[in-house]
Amino acid sequence: MSTDSLQPDKSLAWAKLQDHLAELERNKLDEPETNSNRYEDYSVKLDDLLIDFSRINLNSNTLKLLEELAEECQVQEKIQQLFSGEQLNFTENRAALHSALRGTETEIEGLAEIIQKELDAFLNFADSVRDGLVTGSSGKKFQTIVNIGIGGSDLGPRLVSQALSKTNSLLDVFFVAGADGIELEHALVNADPEQTLFIVCSKSFDTRETHINAYAARSWLLEAFPEVIVAEHFAAVSANNSAMDDFGFKLDRRFKIWDWVGGRYSIWSAVGLSAAISIGSDAFRELLKGARDMDKHFLNAPFAENIPLLLGMVGIWNQNFLAKDTNIVLPYDHRLKILPSYLQQLFMESQGKTVQVNGRKVPVSTGIPLWGATGFDAQHSFSQWLHQGFSDAVVEFIGVVNKPLEKSDEGRLFSLANIMAQADTLFQGEDTSLPYKAHLGNRSSVLVILRQLNAYSLGALLAQYEHRVFVQSVVWGINPFDQWGVELGKKRASQFCDALIQANENKLPGVGQQILAWLNNQK
Ligand code: F6P
Repeated sequence: MSTDSLQPDKSLAWAKLQDHLAELERNKLDEPETNSNRYEDYSVKLDDLLIDFSRINLNSNTLKLLEELAEECQVQEKIQQLFSGEQLNFTENRAALHSALRGTETEIEGLAEIIQKELDAFLNFADSVRDGLVTGSSGKKFQTIVNIGIGGSDLGPRLVSQALSKTNSLLDVFFVAGADGIELEHALVNADPEQTLFIVCSKSFDTRETHINAYAARSWLLEAFPEVIVAEHFAAVSANNSAMDDFGFKLDRRFKIWDWVGGRYSIWSAVGLSAAISIGSDAFRELLKGARDMDKHFLNAPFAENIPLLLGMVGIWNQNFLAKDTNIVLPYDHRLKILPSYLQQLFMESQGKTVQVNGRKVPVSTGIPLWGATGFDAQHSFSQWLHQGFSDAVVEFIGVVNKPLEKSDEGRLFSLANIMAQADTLFQGEDTSLPYKAHLGNRSSVLVILRQLNAYSLGALLAQYEHRVFVQSVVWGINPFDQWGVELGKKRASQFCDALIQANENKLPGVGQQILAWLNNQK
């Protein structure tokens, strides 16, 4: 399919899938006897990762037609272009080479060396902070590490740190994102300025939340130290050198992120610095290796075994044919508590578009909402809606089974039992004579099981999701690497903030003036 057409719904495979859908709907697949090998036939495995999609309403013919659709949409060709560094992010004239950050080969001369040099630099710094070779201005080891950043400059390092840092870690690592100062307050309430290191993470360095928090951190330090040594308590990660000059970061405390790395794809870069301090350089390199091996798998595995390609196309089937209207992610492991938020940015900031790369309106639905919670919380909040409400969601359960399962580990066993019970109940449902007790059934879910959660398996898992996002964007013909939809809101918020600072109400929108009027009239 050439770039100027990009009409997936006009492809031969799409028409065949529509006919196939009608046929499927006549023969409901939720009868387990339909195919007793369903689990075997519709699950894929790689190392410590198992993905079971047997509870999605599809059969072998569906997969054959999805493979045809991927071929007609030239998905494989686009994958090669992505990894070779073509400027697929054409609205910003950039490549999207997050894969190169983790050591996956690219055709760009000299790039691997530049990346390796920066990786070694920030990992050496991370180890030096952990080992006390780099200290605060008074020579004391750093004890409190505060990452200041938002979006991809927060969610990636926050997730990796929460998922992998040892509970007995000697360091207290905090993440400060919002502009309201509350997170910064919580981070500093028991912190000793002499033992506190702030890592200001901002690719653009023009994100106002991050500016506000960075200057607030600076003020807190200035209460304890003269100006001249405040810089000993900062490090920075940015693509904007002049902004780093303006703030006054020491040259040996600055680490690069390049413009060909999207924020939501940046955990593999120095944006991961606070996570690397939290987990250590060896674990961080394992994270990169897991992602790198997933890249190799994505580039080489045949369709039926290719996890990101297959699951990406199953996602097209779910959304554009089964008309599922929500993706819900339920990790049954507290270490992955913010994985739903991480995936929300990755999927929705990449896919929430209505315009194709050729400027035309996308002819099909793209980017449905993705949200979630830990499975434990979900079962005591929106699980009711999933089973008996007007839900048309696809639920992605994520379980970690610490190998081997210990009989004594009731908590871990119960977590796994819950995943099985929830997935099976959504699929099987239950008829009863009492309507209010009926479980409707035939509801879709995918099971993602990690045999263990470690740096390697987490890296592979996150890279797998990145590639699923990419596969779907190719079928839809959209650019998953820009995010123009955030710019206008950011710009107007800054204008209104300045108007509030200058108490210039005329520069506020109507809603702003009403709020101020109400606030000023409070007795
Ligand atoms: O949400 C918009 C966005 O640009 C994200 O893509 C990015 O991760 C976040 O804001 C933070 O941007 P920066 O790292 O430039 O401060």
